[in-house]
Amino acid sequence: MALFGVLWFIFTVFSFVHLTPVILPEEEYQFKQWMSQFNNIYDTEEYYHRLRIFTENKREIDHHNAWKHSFTMGLNQFSAMTFEEFRKSFLLTEPQNCSATKGGHVSRAGPYPEFVDWRMKGNVVTPVKNQGYCGSCWTFSTTGCLESVNAIATGKLISLSEQQLIDCAQDFNNHGCMGGLPSQAFEYIKYNNGLMTEEDYPYKGHDDSCHFEPAFAAAFVLDSVNITSYDEKAMVDAVARLNPVSFAFEVTADFMHYKEGVYTSTQCKNTTDMVNHAVLAVGYGAEESGTPYWIVKNSWGTDWGMDGYFLIERGNNICGLAACVSYPLPLV
Ligand SMILES: *[C@@H]1O[C@H](CO)[C@@H](O)[C@H](O)[C@H]1NC(C)=O
Ligand SMILES: *[C@@H]1O[C@H](CO)[C@@H](O)[C@H](O)[C@H]1NC(C)=O
Ligand SMILES: *[C@@H]1O[C@H](CO)[C@@H](O)[C@H](O)[C@H]1NC(C)=O
Repeated sequence: MALFGVLWFIFTVFSFVHLTPVILPEEEYQFKQWMSQFNNIYDTEEYYHRLRIFTENKREIDHHNAWKHSFTMGLNQFSAMTFEEFRKSFLLTEPQNCSATKGGHVSRAGPYPEFVDWRMKGNVVTPVKNQGYCGSCWTFSTTGCLESVNAIATGKLISLSEQQLIDCAQDFNNHGCMGGLPSQAFEYIKYNNGLMTEEDYPYKGHDDSCHFEPAFAAAFVLDSVNITSYDEKAMVDAVARLNPVSFAFEVTADFMHYKEGVYTSTQCKNTTDMVNHAVLAVGYGAEESGTPYWIVKNSWGTDWGMDGYFLIERGNNICGLAACVSYPLPLV
């Protein structure tokens, strides 16, 4: 009995000193459920490694949800990853050149509608896609925007190729799975004379050689338009009057676990050099409580967030979302 007491004492001290979380049976059960929901299979060593990370994430999620916040967190495909792993696999790891000090977008005087959602304005937004393990967010932001711009101009919604941008747009400061920018991708499409369809140039999610075939070009860009950095009112003007717009912002650890509601953060930075993820604003609105938000299409599949979408606070350049905004003019 005395020996047991001594061992228990050592164990307890060890736990505190190393902050080793003691995992409860219920937490392991949740991990197993999560594994089967997301079809994850691990060998024994990896199982315990992932169980530990999952438990830390799950506790953070529960802690967040126990307090009143404008958004909730939940489990998703990233729940057994550390933010560092997540950052390396999915985000832009280098500072991008996206300071548009004087953008070409010209705003008109309002008034603007209080609520805009391009998903409800006919068939002009393609379903949410999934970038997989490749830092290609910028290609999905680009295709998403051009798909919508093209559909608004022609009445035909065509899913466009991200892989062509990964493989072929290097001359415009883009780096395939290592990152790039929508404005630079629109420039590429303009000078390349077109982008092929998703069907003709399907997504692989890794860098490859360029297989562009001019005869199969399906969407064209007359010009790439920037919105002046930090002019969030001009973003409203563009989304209200013209089309969805591509933007970038800084993703921090809490965003990985986003589930629903209006995301906001005091952790993230708000400058052009800190943006690390590109997405597509398809609309905007305001909560009943008054908080204005953007409606945003992400590229992490439909299991993440609100069926692949998220809302983020509007009007305060949250996480630098107004730092780096652009859209293409269609050539039809
Ligand atoms: C930024 O622009 C410079 C000069 O054109 C270039 O050398 C650098 O690679 C660019 N950075 C990125 C992340 O594209
Ligand atoms: C748009 O901004 C980018 C930087 O993000 C710049 O490289 C590009 O030249 C600008 N394009 C236009 C048409 O002003
Ligand atoms: C960035 O945030 C700081 C502090 O919150 C604020 O003072 C500054 O005006 C913001 N800058 C921009 C460009 O939004």
